[in-house]
Amino acid sequence: MTEAVITIIEADGSRTALHAPKGKTLHAVLTEAGYAVEAPCGGNGTCGKCEVAAEGALSAATPEEQGLPSGKRLACRARVEGDCTVRLDEGKRSAGYAVLTEGAAAAFPFRPWAAGGLGAAVDIGTTTVVVYLYDLDTGARLAVRGAANRQRSCGADVISRISYSMTEPDGLLRLTGFIRSQLRDLFAAAAADAGRSAAEIRAVTVAGNTVMAHLFTGLSPARLSKLPFTPESLFGEGFAADFGAELGLAEDAEMLIVPAVSGYVGGDIVAAALAAGLDRAGAPVLLLDIGTNGEMALAAGGRIFCCATAAGPAFEGAGIACGMGGTDGALARAALQNGALACEVIGGGKARGICGSGLIDLLAAMLDLGAVDETGRLLPPDEAPEAALPYIREQEDGEAAFYVAEDVFVSGRDVRQLQLAKAAIAGGIATLLDEAGLGAEAVTTLYLAGGFGNKIDPVNAGKIGLYPAELAARAVSVGNGAGAGAAAALCSASARAALTRLRDRMEYIELSADPRFMDHYVEQMMF
Ligand code: FES
Repeated sequence: MTEAVITIIEADGSRTALHAPKGKTLHAVLTEAGYAVEAPCGGNGTCGKCEVAAEGALSAATPEEQGLPSGKRLACRARVEGDCTVRLDEGKRSAGYAVLTEGAAAAFPFRPWAAGGLGAAVDIGTTTVVVYLYDLDTGARLAVRGAANRQRSCGADVISRISYSMTEPDGLLRLTGFIRSQLRDLFAAAAADAGRSAAEIRAVTVAGNTVMAHLFTGLSPARLSKLPFTPESLFGEGFAADFGAELGLAEDAEMLIVPAVSGYVGGDIVAAALAAGLDRAGAPVLLLDIGTNGEMALAAGGRIFCCATAAGPAFEGAGIACGMGGTDGALARAALQNGALACEVIGGGKARGICGSGLIDLLAAMLDLGAVDETGRLLPPDEAPEAALPYIREQEDGEAAFYVAEDVFVSGRDVRQLQLAKAAIAGGIATLLDEAGLGAEAVTTLYLAGGFGNKIDPVNAGKIGLYPAELAARAVSVGNGAGAGAAAALCSASARAALTRLRDRMEYIELSADPRFMDHYVEQMMF
């Protein structure tokens, strides 16, 4: 028998029997069956977040699994050798990520390029996916549907997903299948919300970073894994995305994939730049979209400079000891009140972990308390100032950690991860300002795009040095700028035309080849 039966027992006791070929990892079996099992490291056995309770005919524990409690396995390492049983806890069933749907957009006249019917604008984010359904006869927005990107089970960031597409058998096919089936479901659900059918959707605009656009269209993102990061396509006008039928759309549906600038400045940032009005900016303005990559664009003196930095997934809570997404149980806000830390937890109750906005607030508080010095060292109890002592404990390995709740802490290593991430973003901003010959004081508005930019406290982000502190007072959240830009390009032929002009004006700076960036990066490591 080459097939095995894998019995899945969920937190509520329900049982499902899955049939899968022997040799597959538990992670592949579970995700193919639609279970949400996070794999921030892309199945490399390094993050530990795919841990499940499993017993039965499974491969021997791998070196990465040494030290796990008895009966626990890493789903990405354990292979099915015969019949086995897997017990899933609550979080493994549904990811439940907060989805940012609203976004501000510069005004364009309502004049769709498609001849009536329904239209949909789509934002394919690495973390979340949003569909906006429009009536193209009236311009009315009929429905919005969003969800965590199903590809998350194959890696939290674009680098892990590229690696998954290259190393897992059928990895690319699987990633493409996940996003297409998810969009098919979202189109159907949004149309049903409006009492219509997805088969009436005749025009679609899709904004996503360049890796997401590759995976959606079925192109290999392998070339984006190494210098010079040349994409297979920059999409935009003339790119034929002719798989509308697979998405349940009208036979003659036309799909525009928003044009990208480069391998790491994608259609999402071009759409957000359109929404933020960078093409019409008089005074210098900066657009910043912080995700696992920090993408940014500076409009100044009639030119638009842009770049992307690999911030890593620290701000998404990945690779952080107690990190988690912005879901129930995540500490999302923290502030010092009369010297004591006051925290807010999503959904109320006890904190189970810390999400990105909480990490920024905590780091700012740690700096205020003197728990972290300017080099980023978390001070041990015998060196920390008195005000920080209630929060600092030495862990078993002798390293200090900053505790915000029982079992929830920020370790010294976490501070280093955040320090690297913020230095990458701040270094990118400094390089763009150099290119424009400007200082930070010249920037009149800082547009923060994306889910993370929408949630962070701008003052604390400035305090930890994510961007120049003086820009905090000029920060404006544009919400889901990529979605707003895609919607503008759906509902207005002039916005669609403006997208291409805007992309063509964006001058890309490759930071890995720019010595100024390295200097700024090192400088910005300090707090
Ligand atoms: S350890 Fe399994 S996905 Fe990271």
